[in-house]
Amino acid sequence: MKKAHFLAFMQHGVSSHSVGMWRHPLDKIGYDYAAPPYWEHLARTLERGLFDALFLADELAPYNSFEDSSNATVRYAVQAPTHEPAALTPIITGVTTHLGVGITLSTAFEHPYRMARWLATFDHLSGGRIAWNIVGSYSPSEFAAYGQDMPDRSTRYERIEEYVELCCRLWDSWQPDAIVADRETGIYATRAGNVSGSEIRSASELSVNAPRYFAAGCVDGSRSAPPPDSLCRNVPDLSVLSRPRLRSSGNRFSAMSLNVPGRTA
Ligand SMILES: Cc1cc2nc3c(=O)[nH]c(=O)nc-3n(C[C@H](O)[C@H](O)[C@H](O)COP(=O)(O)O)c2cc1C
Repeated sequence: MKKAHFLAFMQHGVSSHSVGMWRHPLDKIGYDYAAPPYWEHLARTLERGLFDALFLADELAPYNSFEDSSNATVRYAVQAPTHEPAALTPIITGVTTHLGVGITLSTAFEHPYRMARWLATFDHLSGGRIAWNIVGSYSPSEFAAYGQDMPDRSTRYERIEEYVELCCRLWDSWQPDAIVADRETGIYATRAGNVSGSEIRSASELSVNAPRYFAAGCVDGSRSAPPPDSLCRNVPDLSVLSRPRLRSSGNRFSAMSLNVPGRTA
């Protein structure tokens, strides 16, 4: 029998890609998206509905591509306001037992050491239920928010490549059997391996022992909302899949659809 996999696409804000849905009389009725009960209720509902995971998209700053301004974006709640997605992880995993959480975190502004440590911590706290949607940020407004000019696409993707490589090496700096915890000898852990050879300067090992990882979403070769035939064409081009850690976790590709259900009775 074939199995279907379901991933809910959300954003930590008023609305994600279904712009204007907040106006619907049944949207988030009685709930405040910025408070934990909304996410606890949603997480429990998704788990009961046998969803595999909840995916949290992110946009670091309101788009300003329309009339060189973010006025319309904010006025009509076009993915704005958007709160930080990773903060929801303990709330969602705290009320569920098997629902995964895919968090979008950009490689553009955080140091990879911070990213690797952060994700490893969430992974431990969730019992291995998080995934990282690796994005490099694609909006000038996001770079402006950090006081930077947006680099060209190839530079952004070169950074993603090196960044992910370094994160994987930081996670690999802890062997699965590194924790000895021998009370007799007082040895807690055997020394982690060294991370070297990256152009991004970083520590030689991570301060958190790291479990399994995989990447959600797409990086190189992807386009937002591609038609199915181009999705299939692009799949072999995802260079991120050449990484042993990601390859060994097995890869699936999903098409995204935004569904607006109506009343059934
Ligand atoms: C399913 C899916 C989800 C995505 N989610 C995000 C997101 O939450 N935040 C973000 O900055 N980019 C997101 N992206 C955009 C990609 O990272 C990428 O920048 C975009 O597809 C444009 O392609 P390009 O960067 O190759 O030009 C998403 C793309 C896809 C296909």
